[in-house]
Amino acid sequence: MKILVTGGTGYIGSHTVVELIGAGHEPVIVDNLSNSKASVLDGIYGITGKKVPFYNVDCTDLNEFGRIFEENTDIKAIIHFAASKAVGESVKEPLKYYRNNLTGILNVLECMKRYGVNSLVFSSSCTVYGQPEELPVTEDAPIQPALSPYGNTKQICEEIIRDTVSACSGLHAVMLRYFNPIGAHESALIGELPLGVPQNLIPYVTQTAAGIRECLTVFGDDYDTPDGSCIRDYINVTDLAMAHIKAVERMESGAQKQNVEVFNIGTGKGTSVFEVIRTFEDVTGVKLNYKVGPRREGDIEKVWADASYANNELGWSAKKNLRETLASAWKWQTTL
Ligand code: UD1
Repeated sequence: MKILVTGGTGYIGSHTVVELIGAGHEPVIVDNLSNSKASVLDGIYGITGKKVPFYNVDCTDLNEFGRIFEENTDIKAIIHFAASKAVGESVKEPLKYYRNNLTGILNVLECMKRYGVNSLVFSSSCTVYGQPEELPVTEDAPIQPALSPYGNTKQICEEIIRDTVSACSGLHAVMLRYFNPIGAHESALIGELPLGVPQNLIPYVTQTAAGIRECLTVFGDDYDTPDGSCIRDYINVTDLAMAHIKAVERMESGAQKQNVEVFNIGTGKGTSVFEVIRTFEDVTGVKLNYKVGPRREGDIEKVWADASYANNELGWSAKKNLRETLASAWKWQTTL
């Protein structure tokens, strides 16, 4: 099946393109390379032996974006990754986030209607739950007021998708709420490529271990958790990529129970920042230079997924454990 992947040279997008090819699909990538590099296409080629059609186009440009559908009339589904994703930056530049992320989804839905594409997979986030009252968090947990413009764009995008699908018969969507994607493809030919100083934990850990950063700061050790540091559900990026293949195939086979479905994509296991550090040191044999600093504004104390709905309904589950995932992140770092 021909599938348009927006943001397909990005971190999760590139891993999904590889898995789509592995499952026999025909991905087409659109990406404006604002937060990725064209060399990612070489990595995808190295793994799959396939040269994936690539459009250097910004999805917020409706005319240019529409041209892709005119040239590829057999696109059957869209996986929409293209969006800005740095929480801290979104607080400083809210308009950039609202413009990119909201215009992006509006154009995706507009083109689905115009060109008769019926299936959409949307990258959502566990950020929509805020600090859940009950853990592990299920898809029915109340949506909390967003803590950042980035989080707000994910909530608004989910609403835009729901409204559009209810108004347009034939449209279907699966929204995947990712927990914390980490790691790299086992070949180490693709992985996460943060520009500048990493904002996320794992690239900061690997860059510190590699001597690029001097010291990792643990943001707070006075949380109400067993060791005082925050807890997250770290999900292997290749496992996460597989959830998109399951989602597309579910829509195409008509197996959906509702026209819009939501799935938590996580391991179901919470891991603290100190546990991540200890496991990384143990797996790699590299000692990490770290110190404890103050809490980071906007951080949630603890969140991990109840992924049983994805396990049972989508037929998806996380396969890789934290040790192998951290090993893959380190292997990738050492190739950079
Ligand atoms: C956040 C978003 C998530 C988004 C992701 C992408 C929320 C609640 N979550 O995840 O939706 O997809 O960013 O950017 O908005 N940490 C340190 N030191 C560091 C970096 C991080 O201790 O140098 C800690 C953080 O306090 C946190 C954990 O590591 O407890 C993970 O942080 P990070 O990787 O930035 O992801 P989230 O903030 O969980």
